[in-house]
Amino acid sequence: MIYLDNHATTCCDPRVVEAMLPWLSEHFGNPHSLSHSPGRLAADAIEQSLSQITRSTNSPEHSIVMTSGATESNNLAIRGVCLHPRQTRRHFVTVSTEHPAVLDVAEELRRDGFRVTRVAAYQAGHPCAGSVDLDRLADAIDDDTALVSVMWANNEVGSIAPMKVIADLCHARGALLHSDATQAIGRIDVDVRKTDVDLVSGSAHKFYGPKGVGFLVVGNGNRRVRILPQIVGGGQQDGLRSGTMNPAAAVAMAKAIELANHEMRSSQPQIMGLRGQLFEQLRSRIERIQLNGPELTLPGRLPGNLNLTIDQVEGEAWMSATPGVAFSSGSACSSVEPGASHVLRAIGLSESATRRSVRFGIGRFNTEPEIMEAADQLVESYRKLQQLTGQR
Ligand SMILES: Cc1ncc(COP(=O)(O)O)c(C=O)c1O
Repeated sequence: MIYLDNHATTCCDPRVVEAMLPWLSEHFGNPHSLSHSPGRLAADAIEQSLSQITRSTNSPEHSIVMTSGATESNNLAIRGVCLHPRQTRRHFVTVSTEHPAVLDVAEELRRDGFRVTRVAAYQAGHPCAGSVDLDRLADAIDDDTALVSVMWANNEVGSIAPMKVIADLCHARGALLHSDATQAIGRIDVDVRKTDVDLVSGSAHKFYGPKGVGFLVVGNGNRRVRILPQIVGGGQQDGLRSGTMNPAAAVAMAKAIELANHEMRSSQPQIMGLRGQLFEQLRSRIERIQLNGPELTLPGRLPGNLNLTIDQVEGEAWMSATPGVAFSSGSACSSVEPGASHVLRAIGLSESATRRSVRFGIGRFNTEPEIMEAADQLVESYRKLQQLTGQR
């Protein structure tokens, strides 16, 4: 199996597994039992891990809340800011191409009586297709806007948003900015202080860490950020997220982000090269293939992302006919609710074109022979399907 679905998840790096194992076996203390050394050892490991995450994202010390992943982080950020008892503003702004872990929270807020604005993204053909339309965003933010949520990088078409520009727009109106940086962390530079974003969500399984652990950066030191906890209980994590913390997961996430950042400079060109090769192979052998999203260059698009629309054949059929290659049609996160990708629809693709679209995510463990083999398999299965379609 050639794995080209690194936006859905990444494998756990063996060095990450090695770092976390002792915290599942010999060091099993409860990090909140500070009266004995096993507990203190676990607490130290967590503190150092969270400290590593602040360094890797250039966030202030003690600004990290550990969560179960980006879905929880997004919920905590958005509901936390908007529903805080001292929140006086009643307007939330987000973008049509966000992940359901933001859009569905927005809909809940609307039911709670909040005014919600979903800003359009730049359309297909625009150099920043998929990223928020900045003029429309500026128009949408007003003096009643409590929070704006804009993803750092899109999970389907890979467009990267200009976070500093967006932060300035928000702060000029007194609004806070949250960013779902799930697809950006470990792939491109995510610098919280430099961009002045107030809250940032991340998830370890997108940067070669384990599933079920993530984080939320709360505050960058420039303004006060109050959040209402969404999980209450023992008061851990300063009361912001109760529940016994998981030292193994914290150690793994810290190791994964450290490695990803350390290897980013060398992995980016390698991954971009492989993506270019895959695109060239497919484009030269399959007629009328179309690239969705921004041009294949940094800083506009994530290095490993490739989203394509093909002629005549549905993405689902292409996937089933190519069992040796793992890729996806639409996004895996919404695959529990199959349907045309809302991101591709939001940038103006027709229902039919959306159904004929697929997403590849090249990662740092992919190799050139794998890409060439995947291309051969994809071309072969496409031709078979095309013949079948022609015969019907
Ligand atoms: C942009 C984005 N946000 C949020 C999520 C959800 O992340 P998690 O699986 O950690 O809940 C995903 C997962 O694919 C994603 O791509």
